[in-house]
Amino acid sequence: MHGASNAVRRIAVNTGGGDAPGLNAVIRATVLASLRRGWEVYGIENGYAGLLEGEEGGLVRLTRQKVRGITHLGGTILGTSNRGNPFAWREVGPDGQERERDRSGEVVEAFREHGLDALVAIGGDGSLGIARDLSELGLPVVGVPKTIDNDLAYTDLSFGFLTAVDTATDAIDKLHSTAESHQRVMVVEVMGRHSGWIALYSGLAGTADAILIPEIPYTTDRVCEKIRARESRGRHFSIVCVAEGAHPVGGQMVTKTVRAGHQEQVRLGGIGERLAVELAECTDKETRSLALGHLQRGGPPNAYDRLLALRFGSAAVACVEEGRFGCAVGMVGDHVEAPSLEEALEERKFVDPEGELVRTARDLGISFGD
Ligand code: F6P
Repeated sequence: MHGASNAVRRIAVNTGGGDAPGLNAVIRATVLASLRRGWEVYGIENGYAGLLEGEEGGLVRLTRQKVRGITHLGGTILGTSNRGNPFAWREVGPDGQERERDRSGEVVEAFREHGLDALVAIGGDGSLGIARDLSELGLPVVGVPKTIDNDLAYTDLSFGFLTAVDTATDAIDKLHSTAESHQRVMVVEVMGRHSGWIALYSGLAGTADAILIPEIPYTTDRVCEKIRARESRGRHFSIVCVAEGAHPVGGQMVTKTVRAGHQEQVRLGGIGERLAVELAECTDKETRSLALGHLQRGGPPNAYDRLLALRFGSAAVACVEEGRFGCAVGMVGDHVEAPSLEEALEERKFVDPEGELVRTARDLGISFGD
């Protein structure tokens, strides 16, 4: 804990890591709640870049005018980056080679030079980890959790997740009619690196026939059996919803590229297409695949995500007012709580393979390929 509430005059807000629907709603709530307390608010552009001299972006004064009409807008008016870790800043050295440099001290210094009293840092596990480390260097910070993957254990929900689920469910609904018309197997790949929440929620809501998630390794044979069983009942099409991080028993996740200096060093993707090829071989059916990719991260947040984001922004400002730093706001039941960043980052949230949601899906005849 650093700082004292009555000393607050000027706060900053930034967005880091991959974007998610609801970021702008958090920014708006943070700005309006701060203005209401008589504080000034500044937005740091592009993660932490806006604080580092010579880097893209800067510090922008966030007025009432600047946050007008943005609650429903996707993306972030401040810009974001998942390459902007100040503890391992990527830059090209004089020899033309990319290298990493610790610029965290410069961030803390710039923060002080600008006369900022607190930072509201909005981000996923990578960005909240950076916030925790900056807090250890003395930066007064409050984290706000963002991830469409919904994989932070300390909060029941992170904003962006339910909008991503809506997008994926809508896609599955649409795929049903074309799959049925052509008697095809459609494989839809959704996001979810370590956790299969989007696949599970949208697969259940959209009535997929198989849901494949990282927490339950699958075998292609078991998925084929499910498709054949449907065939024998006169259902000549099937929908398989697969999380990008799903993998076969004893196998690996399908990766696209390895990226240096990136918060998520391995870029996932391709499991849907691989599975579609395997399913075509073993079922002898026409099969197509579709990766929803960043569609799930774009567009307006749904009503629930807007509420969550607005509540988080307001709660983060309340933490600043109380002088509670080094914490992150989150939802527990219907309450916003703010455990320490250390605690918040302790655990990831995984789908329980024996849990009620998976049991419900099994009761509905949905296969997990196991
Ligand atoms: O962390 C959220 C996430 O949506 C992951 O599910 C996905 O692997 C990743 O972002 C993709 O991020 P980007 O393409 O921006 O690096």
